[in-house]
Amino acid sequence: MYSGLVHAHSGLRWLVLIFLILALVKGISGWMGKKEYTDGDRKMALFALIFTHVQFLLGLGLYMMSPKVSFAEGVMQNAAARFYTVEHMSMMILAIILVTIGYSTAKRTSEALGKHKKIAIFYGIGLLIILAAIPWPFRGLGGGWF
Ligand code: HEM
Ligand code: HEM
Repeated sequence: MYSGLVHAHSGLRWLVLIFLILALVKGISGWMGKKEYTDGDRKMALFALIFTHVQFLLGLGLYMMSPKVSFAEGVMQNAAARFYTVEHMSMMILAIILVTIGYSTAKRTSEALGKHKKIAIFYGIGLLIILAAIPWPFRGLGGGWF
């Protein structure tokens, strides 16, 4: 169960990243090119939102099971334990909230330009935070590529 969750969470990162990037590119090109907000734009933003929400749910499950999350004394002095217990979780939740606000305010905005702008800005900032909070293998935090 635990090992399956880690693999699912690790692999889903790529879907989260790919769909956030696609939605972001559509948002920026729609904004800059003053394009219509198409059903394709809406669906891309929705897929990115769904993968991000599922990732949140898997992360929450892992947070309760992972041996890398600890509340023992000295956790703050250990870079890897502090990363998973505090930094990864809080930065990812912030990013997920930004993506959700982007989708939700874009939905409520009536003009196409405003919709593209909201997706571009909120998804863009969310994506940067997610990239910064992933335990990429070269960071020495015990994360893999898949
Ligand atoms: C978009 C959001 C997120 C992304 C892209 C993401 C990505 C990742 C990646 C790539 C790993 C390393 C997996 C490996 O070992 O290769 C990881 C581990 C972990 N994540 Fe996330 N995560 C996200 C959100 C969250 C959230 C919101 C939480 C907690 C509430 C969370 C909790 C954890 C935990 C506890 C681990 C360590 C699992 C273990 O190896 O025991 N993640 N995450
Ligand atoms: C505890 C977990 C979750 C929380 C707290 C959460 C929270 C939210 C919030 C606040 C919204 C914004 C609604 C709006 O203003 O449009 C939303 C939308 C959405 N969420 Fe989640 N979510 C969670 C898990 C999931 C999961 C697991 C999925 C998919 C399997 C999912 C799919 C969606 C979809 C499809 C929408 C957009 C609905 C629409 O078209 O307006 N969520 N969620």
